[in-house]
Parts: sequence; C-alpha cells; structure tokens
Amino acid sequence: MVHVGSTADASLCGAPCIITDGKHRGRNPGRMVWWDSWFRCVCAPVIEAKDTCIMSEEVIVARESENLTGTIKVSGAKNSALKLIAAAILGRGASVIHNVPLISDIEVMSDVARAMGAEVVRTDHTLTVDTTNVQDKETPYALVSKMRASISVLGPMVGRFGHARVSMPGGCQIGARKIDMHLVGMSALGVQFNLDHGVLEASVPDGLHGNDVCLEFPSVGATENTMMTAVVANGHTTLENAAREPEIVDLANMLNSMGCKVSGAGNSTIEIEGVPLESLHPCEHTTVGDRIEAGTFLVGGALLGGPLTVTGIDPSFLRMAILKLRAMGCDVDYGDDWISIRRTGRLKPVDIQTLPHPGFPTDLQAQFMLLCSLADGSSVVTENVFENRFMFAEEIMRMGADITIDGHHAIVEGVDKLEGAPVSSTDLRGGAALVLAGLAAEGETIVRSIGHIDRGYEDYVGKLRHLGADVERCLMNDDGSLVALQ
Ligand code: EPZ
Repeated sequence: MVHVGSTADASLCGAPCIITDGKHRGRNPGRMVWWDSWFRCVCAPVIEAKDTCIMSEEVIVARESENLTGTIKVSGAKNSALKLIAAAILGRGASVIHNVPLISDIEVMSDVARAMGAEVVRTDHTLTVDTTNVQDKETPYALVSKMRASISVLGPMVGRFGHARVSMPGGCQIGARKIDMHLVGMSALGVQFNLDHGVLEASVPDGLHGNDVCLEFPSVGATENTMMTAVVANGHTTLENAAREPEIVDLANMLNSMGCKVSGAGNSTIEIEGVPLESLHPCEHTTVGDRIEAGTFLVGGALLGGPLTVTGIDPSFLRMAILKLRAMGCDVDYGDDWISIRRTGRLKPVDIQTLPHPGFPTDLQAQFMLLCSLADGSSVVTENVFENRFMFAEEIMRMGADITIDGHHAIVEGVDKLEGAPVSSTDLRGGAALVLAGLAAEGETIVRSIGHIDRGYEDYVGKLRHLGADVERCLMNDDGSLVALQ
C-alpha cells in the first residue's frame, strides 16, 4: 500500500509515501528518491493531500521506436565489481575501486561489507572500501537473501579470520544456484563447514594449505571463492577446470595488486602461490567494462538496425556474441575499446548453445532469443548453464513470439512483427530484453518488476533514450494511469 499525498500526512497509512501529481516545485520536480523505505519528493511539496491511497509501482514503458543509433559508454562490470568489494576484505585498509556501476546490487554488496565492519564510500563511480575495522561477523540473511552474490565474502572472510558465518544464499528464478562446488574447492584447502540453522559456518582448525583442486564444472563463484581462499593458504594451489570469464581475470588482477601471487587467470588452470595475510595491502583498481551490458545494447542495434556503438568494452570479451551477430546478418566492427553494429537486411536464424566462457554467455541468452524471434526462419536456443532460464520466452510469447520449449531447448520460429503488451521482468537479463522487445514491437509495452533491471543496468532507460528509444520510466497507479518519472 502506498500513500499518495503530501509529506505532512505521509504517516497516515504508514506506507511508503509516493508523492506524485506533477505540481512539484524545487530542485527536481517530480523526481522521486528512495529514502529509508519511503518515496519522498526531493523538493518542498506544494500539493494538497489526497484522501485516497492507491497502489503504484515503477514500470518501464517502451514504444515502437524508429531505431537505436549513436554511442553508449558501458558501465563497469556488475559481475566483477561485486567480487572486488569482497576481495578488499583481504587487504586491511582502504582500497579504491573505479568504474563501479550505479546499480542496486552494488548497494547491497556495499551494505554487506558495512555489516562486516567496513566503511564503503561512493564518489560518483569510485568506491573507497576501508576494511580496517572488518570483524569476524555473520553476514546478515536479510542482505544475502537479497543478492546471492553476497556468498563472495566467504573466501575473503575465511582468508582473513580463519572463520566465517555466512547465511546460505537462496535460489532464484533461474535456478537452484547451489554452492557445493564452492565448498569442495575451499575444503581442499583445509576449510571445514557446518550448516547451522541456515547459516554456513566455516573454520580452518589446521590452517589453510595449498592443494591441487579440480572443479566439477567451471563455476564462476566457486572459482572466485576458492581463489580468494588459496591466495593466503600455506603453499601452492593449482585450480583446474577454473572459470575463464573476464571477471575472473579482473579479480585476479586486483588480488595481485594487493600482493597476491595468482597466475593463469582466464585459462582453465590457475596457479596460486599462497602469501602471508599480513603481506597483503589495499590497492587501487579499475573494474573492466560490463560485457553483458555491452552485448545487450549491441542486440538493440541488431534489433532496430543501428548504427550503434558501445565504448568502454574490450571486444575480446564478446567474441562468441560477435560471431553470432555476424551470423544473423549484422555488420560488426570493433577497435581496442569499442564495438559497432549495423544491420540492413532481415535477421537470419541462428542456433545458440550457452556455455561457460569463452562459449556463448548465458547472460545474453534472452537478448538473443529476442533477435531469433524476429529472424527469417527457425532457431534453436539451448540453455546449458542454468536449469530454468527460459522464463523470458513465456513473456515474449505474450508479444506474439512463436517459441516452443522442449527441456533445455527453445525452438524459435521467426515472426514478422511483435505486438506491444503488458509483461513482467522475470530476471535481470530477461527484463532488459523485454524492454528491447517493446522498442521493436507495434504499440506500447509496459514492463513491470523492473527492480530486476535496476540490479544490473545503470540508467538503462536514460541510455536507451540517448540512442533514440521511445521509452520512459513511469509510476503506474492501480487505475493504470502513468506518471512519467524519466
Ligand atoms: C555468475 O553466477 C554470474 N553472477 C551470473 O550472472 C552468470 O550467469 C554465471 O556466473 C555464469 O556465467 C555473478 O557473477 C554475480 P556459476 P554464479 O557458479 O557464480 C551451478 C547475471 O545475470 N553451480 O558459474 O552463480 C549453478 O547452479 C547473473 O548477471 C552448482 O551447481 O554462476 C549454475 O547452474 C545471472 N554448484 C551453474 O553451475 C556450485 O557450487 C553456473 O553457476 C556453483 C554453481
């Protein structure tokens, strides 16, 4: 329940107060900010209290757009920055991390670090993470349940204190998201685990020691936690079947800047020479560009034609995606830190198999399924990484896509046009793809549950508008009326 009215009577129903009427005056007319669970206007409201409470939610309204053209600088990689914050725990002192995206997941991870005693201060896209006063505390369930990547503090906490208590992360829409491989990797280094009422307790009764570790699957998280434990183990660790994602390399580079000795990151075998914890120190590091954000915008360019350029990204991070875009009939060019795309003819069908890097990224699966849904023929999209990552398909079928799900395969028959419809984000990447779908579809598409998108895309609407999209961030009231916010 939210209250529409003036701040004066916001407490009437004790619900988050959304002041929306357009009659605002002040610094940011009509701009809402989130303030201890209440929406409040940042200016002096000059509105009369309304006597009705109405439900409102933020939505993204996407309308058929002529094209997406121009240049966008991508933000820093969400899936790297989150782990860099955790890694700072190993270097007692103030580490500075640049190119950190302004997204809600980073806020959650910053709160996790704060809950452990760190001081985290953001200045624009730079975070200063001072871990001087980090203590051996339990990671709060309330935060871990918001974002499962919080489990990334496990390795650094064990490395620093020889002990950790981290709430077990839950699953999410795309799968069970188990952490058994994290535990196997760390156990090989001398860590013992005990599950205590939903809290995972880690201890190292005989200290951390190097070992030969082979992961059953090149899990990103398991590679990261094992690596962040091994860097202060006594002796040498060889980590085989390691994840090869660019974010792993970014983390290894930061760890080495702190005094660690990691080599081979980006390959299947990573070599780690343990060093004394006391020898580690804070560092200054710049997060790599977000390859999934870059890929998402490139799909937008493929969808509507472009030319569209993304900058701030190493094109080698997206080799497979570029290969598939070219196979679909797009002209793709790139330089040291940019990638451009243009399409003239109709999209061609393509088969996609998601795999660990350098295979096709699962985080671009929904976006490419959208492209396939408008291609001239049949495509098969196979999801090999997560067990339940086709929810996007169910939403886009509401817009007229012709998709048949058969286990881990989605058979996509291209159609000529999609139709705008009310849809709901099912996960971060599916939500971003639904907005793109709305730009290509006839009419208007209202995308709900956009909190998923805010988790991983900085100013997604603003960047799309910069490229010429007809898209708005709105408050939708329970009577269906829309109030534009951005
Ligand atoms: C990271 O998740 C990313 N998240 C995911 O991005 C990404 O999709 C995934 O890597 C694969 O690239 C972050 O970095 C925060 P995994 P992670 O461990 O580490 C199973 C996004 O949209 N598994 O490589 O959780 C697991 O269930 C998100 O930005 C186990 O069974 O991925 C999954 O099916 C979504 N046991 C598969 O392996 C384990 O111990 C891959 O998981 C670990 C994983």
